[in-house]
Amino acid sequence: MQTVLVTGGAGFIGANFTLVARRNNWINIINLDKLTYASNLDNLGEIKDDINYHFVQGDIGNIELVSYLLDKYQPQAIINFAAETHVDRSIFSPQSFIQTNVVGTFNLLEATRFYWQKLSLQNQQNFRFIHVSTDEVYGSLKVQDPAFREDTPYAPNSPYAASKAASDHFVRAYYHTYGLPTLTTNCSNNYGPRQFPEKLIPLTILNALDGKPLPIYGDGQNIRDWLYVIDHCEAIYLVLQNGKIGETYNIGGMNEQTNLRVVKKICTILDELAPQSTSYADLITFVADRPGHDWRYAIDCTKISSELGWQPKENFDSGLFKTVQWYLNNSNWVQQVRSGAYQNWLKQNYENRTTK
Ligand code: NAD
Ligand code: DAU
Repeated sequence: MQTVLVTGGAGFIGANFTLVARRNNWINIINLDKLTYASNLDNLGEIKDDINYHFVQGDIGNIELVSYLLDKYQPQAIINFAAETHVDRSIFSPQSFIQTNVVGTFNLLEATRFYWQKLSLQNQQNFRFIHVSTDEVYGSLKVQDPAFREDTPYAPNSPYAASKAASDHFVRAYYHTYGLPTLTTNCSNNYGPRQFPEKLIPLTILNALDGKPLPIYGDGQNIRDWLYVIDHCEAIYLVLQNGKIGETYNIGGMNEQTNLRVVKKICTILDELAPQSTSYADLITFVADRPGHDWRYAIDCTKISSELGWQPKENFDSGLFKTVQWYLNNSNWVQQVRSGAYQNWLKQNYENRTTK
């Protein structure tokens, strides 16, 4: 079985990937995570004693540490989930986005190149570097525009998107220049268990349960293409197994929804699962828009579906229902992430957004 260095495996998608990969015995995992505010080792409690899983706290930008881990564990692949990921935070303070997403990915590529160049020819050919990226690198669509394809030109609009675009370009350059066997995935909005409640869906669930306003930026008509996180994890595993080196694969849910519709759906589910005297929808509050807010994302996933046979399995209604249930059933996890630092973030992002 392959040993894989997974980075950012204590965050939302990385932890779901690590859990599903170990439950199904897909691969052995070394998880390198810096443990930023967005991480939670409780996500991985289920596998902490698994002998085919090791956790290491550290930074992808630390070449010495990454080189040490590569030499020690001799992985056959790296899957890079580690990143700063929240668009609103990238607007307040872009520095850490450049540090981790650009410089960190560059240093990770350098350590990987040094390691890979020392492998036998056979091991070099079998090696894979999977870079997990986002649809935000393609910019914003108008309602009538066709969905993003792999050959859509990059046009990132937020500091987050620009930093991810830069990292994608470095990954591409390492394939073309050094022959490093890289693959990049560009995925749409994920939702599901274990997502840090700064993002729309968990923020809405937790605010609603607290009886707090449900903040909708602008008029709530911006559109995102939502994919259940386990469908994303399965796509990444397929790319690891059968993807063509040097290629990029778009991954999406074929599930475009306005933000207002998403929030209303969550309220309807909560009205059923945790009823109160009034509907949660009464808490919906329109607030000042995100600067440079991308209007619409949509993914054309023809390539991954025709070349690798991938299709999302979860539909939005059942996936959202399961997600709300998970937050209701995991009050310890919820209490833990609601630390002082999280409260400071809520204050910084929402206090000065005037109610429209
Ligand atoms: P997340 O913010 O939940 O988790 C990120 C993880 O990376 C955290 O555990 C954090 O501690 C770790 N990390 C951050 N900086 C690090 C560093 N310098 N070294 C090592 N670890 C570090 O993120 P997520 O939502 O799980 O996203 C994972 C990846 O998927 C990111 O690359 C993101 O750009 C991409 N992506 C996310 C989505 C989405 O909807 N969440 C969609 C498409 C692509
Ligand atoms: O498209 C993939 C991207 O999806 C990932 O690369 C990012 O890491 C991930 O954070 C996500 O970015 P978004 O900006 O789309 O996600 P977010 O959950 O922050 O916002 C979703 C939509 O909801 C967006 O149009 C902004 C809006 N929104 C968000 C928040 C937090 C609100 O209306 N109110 C809010 O309070």
